[in-house]
Amino acid sequence: MRRYSLIAIFLHWTIAALLAFQISVGWALEDLGAGGFSLYQLHKSVGISILVLTLIRLAVRFWKPRPVRIESGWQGALASAVHGGLYLFMLGAPLTGWALVSTARVKVPTLLFGIIPIPHLPLPADAHQWAEGGHGLLAWLGIALFLLHVAGAIRHHMMLRDGLIWRMMPARSPMLLVALPGLMLVGLLLGKAILPEPVAEVARPQPAAPATQDEIAPPSPTNISVANAVETAVAPDDAPAQAEEAIPPPPGWTVQPGGRVGFSVDNSGETISGGFSRWTAKIVMDPDRPDSADIRVEIDLASATVGDAYQDGMLAGEEFFDTAAHPRAIFTAKGAERTGRNSYRAVGTLSMKGASRPQSIRFTLSGTGDSRKVAGSASIARLPFGVGNGESSGGLAPRVAVTFQFNARAQ
Ligand code: HEM
Ligand code: HEM
Repeated sequence: MRRYSLIAIFLHWTIAALLAFQISVGWALEDLGAGGFSLYQLHKSVGISILVLTLIRLAVRFWKPRPVRIESGWQGALASAVHGGLYLFMLGAPLTGWALVSTARVKVPTLLFGIIPIPHLPLPADAHQWAEGGHGLLAWLGIALFLLHVAGAIRHHMMLRDGLIWRMMPARSPMLLVALPGLMLVGLLLGKAILPEPVAEVARPQPAAPATQDEIAPPSPTNISVANAVETAVAPDDAPAQAEEAIPPPPGWTVQPGGRVGFSVDNSGETISGGFSRWTAKIVMDPDRPDSADIRVEIDLASATVGDAYQDGMLAGEEFFDTAAHPRAIFTAKGAERTGRNSYRAVGTLSMKGASRPQSIRFTLSGTGDSRKVAGSASIARLPFGVGNGESSGGLAPRVAVTFQFNARAQ
């Protein structure tokens, strides 16, 4: 019986194994903490490779003759439809993934295996939710089609016994019959094996302590409104002690792995975006009594990356973060104020590169019960911290947008 060309067979099994790897890693991405960044890069790199291999495979399909169809009738039509669907999945999964990172609010550059920069697709920002929804959905669609496909292969092999499976094998060998489909299992397990240990920081529940004066920087002409907000935010802490006793202490929240802290800044008309892969947050807060908030976020500045090894090296240097002398940025805030139904503002102190300044952050909480999705942002004036104080920072805008999102679980 004629078989597919060796190159078609090679691509069939390679792509199958890579897809299994992608799904196994993809599902874990959201729950990753520190170390997640490199896995995102790997997921994106392997995904783009699948796109390229699929395009080659489609070219091969027209270039090399394929064995003739064995089945006609509805079974033949179903097999062709499933094959067509699988090709759409092989193209659609990477394209939606690419679209979702291209339209994300924080644009993290994609470097194919850390080397080749992949540009972002020119898509409108509101395409993001479609791309994100489509990406997750396509994985399930692909799994459903795969199950139909394998059911068909098993039917041919076990029931019809027409030897169809050998058309997708380089030789008639029982070992290959196990080894090639087994590659998918290897992909799946490899995806699980390389997941980093979840690094969740446990915040201890503690009653909200009143903010002390030293934690609030003295008002300067430029931050009077900030200082006012601090006072509003901490005022309820002066409430009588009885009230404190009647209300249970605010819960502490454990940040779930998978959160993201990103930054972006304009550089002569172009946006430089990146993220921090290592950070921890200790949060105590009752969402209904935001004044109870006690927040401490620590960011390992050496984990800053814009996806380019050279620029990352510059970020760590004296002109920017000077991580050798000041490895961490620390934000602390006691008390927050409600600015909308689910939105809050906390004014605290940001300490970085030897300087401490008042800093406000805004965030929204969604979800109920023991779990909350936290998303927020801050606009940071970089000059008071001496970040970007050299020759290469001439075109850099004075304010850097920082965004964060993570899931938190009440302890
Ligand atoms: C080629 C096949 C691919 C497959 C089978 C795949 C599969 C998946 C799966 C199953 C998830 C989890 C979705 C969820 O939890 O809802 C995921 C997440 C993700 N994928 Fe892919 N992916 C592929 C390619 C790509 C590519 C090429 C990129 C980017 C260039 C990408 C970027 C992402 C991102 C950023 C997430 C996290 C989404 C989020 O946080 O909501 N993927 N992927
Ligand atoms: C255990 C796993 C798998 C087995 C046993 C298997 C088996 C086969 C066999 C025997 C054929 C040839 C059908 C024929 O000659 O008419 C085939 C074709 C095909 N397979 Fe798979 N397959 C597997 C996994 C996958 C996966 C994961 C995908 C992609 C997501 C895939 C996509 C395809 C496509 C698109 C074709 C049609 C090739 C063409 O005619 O262009 N297969 N597969």
